[in-house]
Amino acid sequence: MACLTKKQFRLIASIAKDHWGLNITDQKYDLIKNRMAKHMNCGRFSDVDEYLDYIVECSSDAEKLELFDVLSTNVTSFFREAHHYDYIERELYTPLRKHAISKPGSKIRIWSAGCSFGCEPYSMAMHADVHLGGIDNWDIEILATDLSNSALSVAQRAVYDKSSMANIDVDMYMKYFIQKNHGDGEKYMVNDRIREIVHLARLNLIELWPFKGPLDIIFCRNVMIYFDKKTKTEIINRMYDMMCPGGIFAIGSSETLSGIDVPFRSAAPSLYIK
Ligand SMILES: C[S@@+](CC[C@H](N)C(=O)[O-])C[C@H]1O[C@@H](n2cnc3c(N)ncnc32)[C@H](O)[C@@H]1O
Repeated sequence: MACLTKKQFRLIASIAKDHWGLNITDQKYDLIKNRMAKHMNCGRFSDVDEYLDYIVECSSDAEKLELFDVLSTNVTSFFREAHHYDYIERELYTPLRKHAISKPGSKIRIWSAGCSFGCEPYSMAMHADVHLGGIDNWDIEILATDLSNSALSVAQRAVYDKSSMANIDVDMYMKYFIQKNHGDGEKYMVNDRIREIVHLARLNLIELWPFKGPLDIIFCRNVMIYFDKKTKTEIINRMYDMMCPGGIFAIGSSETLSGIDVPFRSAAPSLYIK
């Protein structure tokens, strides 16, 4: 296996920090060494130095993002961390459906920030359809963003294999997926009705965001694990500013806002209210 020198590791960490805000600490050395060894097997470069020179001096954005993919993870699943969905059903969708609260123009705006392969925003769309009594009765849009080109292209295709369907019950499967039989096994495609309200876009969270709020829900789950405290504080405060009063903000269950200076009110584990 190709060895990664400490100098090369530090250069990779500084590229990751400058371009994508990733905080690659020394504890990640073995992980990055293994991933780089695999990446170098593609054979385009004779060694890590040549590859890193290319990345620094002449690579395109897309090529740089191939390195981003080597350094980050895209682990996701449908209806991951179900208690977030239960909370939204109980505190927002049920009161809306029963007219206990209202939204002008029946307008609901949601952002899945760091949407990876799309399981998260499609889950949100299916969940809204079930618990709002049909998305057609609402002006609902789900913005789904990620930096990874490869993750976004999976999200764009919206075709998943059987192993991804573990949290999808039979009713949902029948209502929201189309079964496709490919040569490489059964595949399931999210149907057009659900896809129509999910707008996918590439966005680097540490850069400017070309859209405005107010947003009713932001899921920023299992994304900030990559960022240092300063970057996290800045991003979460920008998200706070984009939300409507009472808006729901979710982070991953293994993440915390403790020590982050942001005026969100804690509502439930890993859930916050503006
Ligand atoms: C572990 S996945 C989380 C997916 C989903 N939110 C979930 O919880 O299932 C983290 C995602 O964050 C994205 N990400 C990491 N840094 C980013 C950045 N600077 N800008 C935008 N997306 C980023 C990665 O590409 C990856 O798809």
